[in-house]
Amino acid sequence: MEIKKFGVVGAGQMGNGIVQVAAQAGFAVVMHDIADKFVANGMAVIKKNLQRSVDKGRMEQSEMDAVLGRIETTTELSAMKDVDIVVEAATENEKIKLDIFAQLDEICQEGAILASNTSSISITKIAAATKRPGKMIGMHFMNPVPVMKLVEVIKGLATTDETYDTVVELAKKLGKIPCEANDFPGFIANRILLPMINEAVYCLFEGVGKPEDIDNVMKLGMNHPMGPLALADLIGLDTCLAIMNVLHDGLGDTKYRPCPLLKKYVDAGFYGRKSGRGFYDYSK
Ligand code: CAA
Repeated sequence: MEIKKFGVVGAGQMGNGIVQVAAQAGFAVVMHDIADKFVANGMAVIKKNLQRSVDKGRMEQSEMDAVLGRIETTTELSAMKDVDIVVEAATENEKIKLDIFAQLDEICQEGAILASNTSSISITKIAAATKRPGKMIGMHFMNPVPVMKLVEVIKGLATTDETYDTVVELAKKLGKIPCEANDFPGFIANRILLPMINEAVYCLFEGVGKPEDIDNVMKLGMNHPMGPLALADLIGLDTCLAIMNVLHDGLGDTKYRPCPLLKKYVDAGFYGRKSGRGFYDYSK
């Protein structure tokens, strides 16, 4: 199946990144969010990223204009009626995702693929909310999307080989490297990454180290590009907590219990970079 038109639901940090790479790869893209202000913010981030490339001489102004010209924005889900694939990148909340996919199933043309950028929720379960489980798949991008090479491609129980092959080819056209994962809580990326981040939060909680020291140990000692607490702030502490809850509930092992300090930060509204405060202060 040939993908020509792309839809993205959610204009937040993952959604606008997916829109940018799809438009840069030459696809016509429809970007949706529930309110004008979220759509406008998503477009502003894309423009800023492209402008940086123009300023650094990596992109012509005419190319930037062409990329922006391929992006259509909307607050109506019905605008997804003629896309060939829709990638959902809404809040990491199972109920919200099930509801979005039930609606998309009604709206999208018969052959369209429904993909979720979920970081941990079961693709099989989301597929069951639709009448096209064979066309449902996980397409898990990494943050920041324009920079990170990986797309984890997750097959649900009913995902067809044709859907899988189409999405693998699509990921390559987006300049990404697809890796296959089966549908278990957290898939591969977050099954490994989030317990490490959670353990770093425990180190802070128990007074083993200060944030800077915990992060520097992992940066200088293990060559990680960022420390786990700074990375948690980049991902969003609310998202980190949601993923730990999925691992804990889905795998039933106490080793996945979310650190109480992570819960406390989320309760306080300290979500990381996006709220201006997490383990570090971004207000300035
Ligand atoms: N959007 C677009 N481009 C960005 C960006 C963003 N948000 N952040 C950084 N960049 C670009 C910069 O513009 C720069 O590009 P140029 O040099 O070409 O201009 C390049 O990335 C490097 O940036 P910096 O020099 O500012 O900083 P850096 O070298 O430290 O790199 C980083 C920044 C790429 C974020 C790097 O620190 C890194 O790789 N961190 C780890 C990120 C990671 O692990 N991501 C996965 C998170 S898990 C996830 O996403 C899945 C999930 O479900 C939770």
